[in-house]
Amino acid sequence: MTDSSLIQVSGLRKIYRGAEMPAVDNLSFVVHEGDIFGLLGPNGAGKSTTIMALCGLLKINAGSIQIFGLSINQKGAEIRKLIGVAPQEIALFPMLTAYENLAYFGRMYGLDRATIRQRVDHLLEDFGLKEKAKVRVAHFSGGMKRRLNLIAALLHRPRLLILDEPTSGVDVQSRKMILDYLLSLQAEGVTIIYSSHLLDEAENLCSWFSILDEGRLIAEGKLKDMPAMNSGSRNLEQLFLELTGKRTRD
Ligand SMILES: Nc1ncnc2c1ncn2[C@@H]1O[C@H](COP(=O)(O)OP(=O)(O)O)[C@@H](O)[C@H]1O
Ligand SMILES: [Mg+2]
Repeated sequence: MTDSSLIQVSGLRKIYRGAEMPAVDNLSFVVHEGDIFGLLGPNGAGKSTTIMALCGLLKINAGSIQIFGLSINQKGAEIRKLIGVAPQEIALFPMLTAYENLAYFGRMYGLDRATIRQRVDHLLEDFGLKEKAKVRVAHFSGGMKRRLNLIAALLHRPRLLILDEPTSGVDVQSRKMILDYLLSLQAEGVTIIYSSHLLDEAENLCSWFSILDEGRLIAEGKLKDMPAMNSGSRNLEQLFLELTGKRTRD
């Protein structure tokens, strides 16, 4: 393991019970400290499966995952305390207020009451939700829920953030707020795994790109080093279509 690698995935394979094809197959990659690591691919590519495996929430069929030099198999509980995760499916209690939801997550992370209050106040302010602290999440828009879902992953100030489609279903303003915030976290030294099928968004945000299709890694690297990216006016979306073909994935 080189000094700067926070995550090492090697030969990861997951085949769901009853499935014909593996959701993830022989997947290996390294995430370096300080990167915004784009885990990209069309629907069904295996992004969420990979992320659940990284969080130790999935029984894998083969391969190894090391995070902070610890094996997810042996030290899952320890690793989960050090990372912040925002899942693709919003994980909030609709009948609780924004504040109550965040206080719940804060207690789960072992934070004391005063720290929770201070951090929640700050983060709600940063994400434009200060006025909504006492509103039940059931009344929130999609963009507000996404922002709150992200705040829940930030409360314990993790060095590593794992975000699965963090801008899915949000309006332009929420998207900008979320992406700007991620860049400010990166500037503070936080490492981020960012999964998305939105390539134009990823292109401006990520410092590293790993492209999955049908459970396999089909390209990886910095954008400037990607094959066929140097010539002309190509963008990530064009490269992606070239690599994956034009068949739709549902
Ligand atoms: N719980 C599950 N049981 C069976 N198959 C699943 C399950 N979750 C995902 N899959 C399948 O695994 C593949 C990868 O899915 P997923 O990891 O959710 O991809 P992505 O997040 O890139 O859209 C898809 O073919 C999907 O249908
Ligand atoms: Mg997914």
